[in-house]
Amino acid sequence: MTILQRLTLTRPDDWHLHLRSGSLLRAVLPQTSACFARAIIMPNLQPPVVRTEQAQAYRREILAALPVGHAFQPLMTLYLTETTDPDDVRTGFLEGSVAAVKLYPAGATTHSDAGVHELERVYPVLAVMEEIGMPLLIHGEVVDPAVDIFDREAVFIETRLIPLRARFPALKVVFEHLTTRDGVDYVHACEHHTAASITPHHLAINRNALLAGGIRPHYYCLPVAKRETHRLALLEAATSGDRRFFMGSDSAPHPDHAKLSSCGCAGIFNAPNAIAVTAQLFEQEDALMHLEGFLSRNGADFYGLPRNTGTLTLERLEQAQPVPPALPLEQGCLSVFDPQIPVYWRVAD
Ligand code: NCD
Ligand code: ZN
Repeated sequence: MTILQRLTLTRPDDWHLHLRSGSLLRAVLPQTSACFARAIIMPNLQPPVVRTEQAQAYRREILAALPVGHAFQPLMTLYLTETTDPDDVRTGFLEGSVAAVKLYPAGATTHSDAGVHELERVYPVLAVMEEIGMPLLIHGEVVDPAVDIFDREAVFIETRLIPLRARFPALKVVFEHLTTRDGVDYVHACEHHTAASITPHHLAINRNALLAGGIRPHYYCLPVAKRETHRLALLEAATSGDRRFFMGSDSAPHPDHAKLSSCGCAGIFNAPNAIAVTAQLFEQEDALMHLEGFLSRNGADFYGLPRNTGTLTLERLEQAQPVPPALPLEQGCLSVFDPQIPVYWRVAD
């Protein structure tokens, strides 16, 4: 196979990752730890990771599941509930056990039932986080059934996020898995303390992938993919070199049987090709010079963490690469994201 180009980057980080636990964790973790130095680990297990000691135990489980020779640092998060103890959050952050707190509006997505109904009830936690400089990671969707699912991000910004930021202006916020032009505009309009993660799948597909010509549950995730104009806004933001945007894969494994169902789960598994797909899209936008910022620098800078010292080499091949094969699981298998574009990039061995 002819290699046309090589690109060596500072080793990337994944700023939004679902690893699950048990056998599913063991199946998916090597896909991430083979390429990424660190990842922000989502806390939406069942039961959720609410207290620092649970995050510490989960971190030990992840480290125990690492393949020999993989150096990977899980950055743990706490799942914000209306009874979260501000002192536990403070201690967990200051001692380095947890990197951030995740806000799920109750009912917004997979395993979010224990999330927040009334934001006012978590103000004491947010006040502590603002004081100590701890990032709040926001799933930015309203859950009101009267709001159309395609509008839930835009409505969240107006009715929840803007008032919240007015109350806590110095709180560091990561707007997670941005999916709309409205979200991009919001981040652009913020002068301080604001960043956003963007997934490879929201850069690659719009809602037609999910709904046109047959319903394709493998493209169902939350927030749901939007129309093309929104994808283009995300692509523009990601490839612009603006340091407020960075890659969070939101790789969210659900066994195929749980997705291909009359009520399929939300979540796209992209850990095996997140980097290759992102490189392909940056190349198409003539923006490979900004790839390293998006994958390896912007997130660390926003979180106030050192940049990685290792590297990762990508190769651009003459021929498009097949979508990575589904992973075998204890029960069934796990399909990998198909970006619906030819991908000529791969991570070098
Ligand atoms: C995530 C999951 O499966 O845990 N699903 C998804 O569609 N992204 C939850 C989330 O991040 O919303
Ligand atoms: Zn997620």
